[in-house]
Amino acid sequence: MDNRPVGMFDSGMGGLSVLKTAIALLPSEDYIYFGDDANAPYGTKTPEQIIDLALGCSRFLADEGVKAIVVACNTATSAAINDIRSRFKLPVISMEPAVKPALENSKGNRILMMATPATCALSRYQKLLNRVDVNHKVENVPCPGLVELIEAGRTGKDVDERLLELLCKYDGMQIDGIVLGCTHYPFIRSNIERYAREHFLGEPRLFDGNAGTVRQLIRVLKAGGLLSEKEKGSVRLLTSGNRASIIPAFERMLAQYEPVL
Ligand code: DGL
Repeated sequence: MDNRPVGMFDSGMGGLSVLKTAIALLPSEDYIYFGDDANAPYGTKTPEQIIDLALGCSRFLADEGVKAIVVACNTATSAAINDIRSRFKLPVISMEPAVKPALENSKGNRILMMATPATCALSRYQKLLNRVDVNHKVENVPCPGLVELIEAGRTGKDVDERLLELLCKYDGMQIDGIVLGCTHYPFIRSNIERYAREHFLGEPRLFDGNAGTVRQLIRVLKAGGLLSEKEKGSVRLLTSGNRASIIPAFERMLAQYEPVL
């Protein structure tokens, strides 16, 4: 038994979709969530920049006394997970785009994988894809600009217009699954579902890696004898950005978001 908190970080608010999933599936833990808003977005930065930033977030959480770190960001995982694991003795839980569950659970031939430009280009993701997508069903859709709109709370018309720019080349096609390969995208699930309904053939199911990541966190904590003995844990929200505006936005997002379990 270990009552120290679990640490989680993302470039901004995206990882709150993972945090809410964790609160639902593992409510007994205390969580410290760190959004690196001063440096968001990560997805258009170089691998070296992302590694530096992800190591900084991990250091910050380690100094807060966490017992494990969840990298609640596909971009940071893709660029920096090996560096984080080699520098920190703590268990580190990573995220990856849910292409494997999407391939296993959707019939048909075309799956869109939406993620940041960095995730799509990084070799860690490319290796995963080569391993699991033997029949070349997955089409990568780098989505620059979406994270910025979500962070700014512009999740209505502005996101819809951006989705049109990013996805119109698939209009009229049979799409069998859509992977939300960035932890910000579950917040615009309904925009993406509506787009798919209005523009694609078929009824693609959406996949995110959040519940899978939290199940892995549970397995790791159990195996290490690190589960908390509390009945109900707490949540501390922290940011490297402007606390006065960002923490209330985090709180709103966390309250509103309904995780898919
Ligand atoms: N939420 C992040 C992810 O899962 C990254 C967003 C960004 O900063 O570009 O990839």
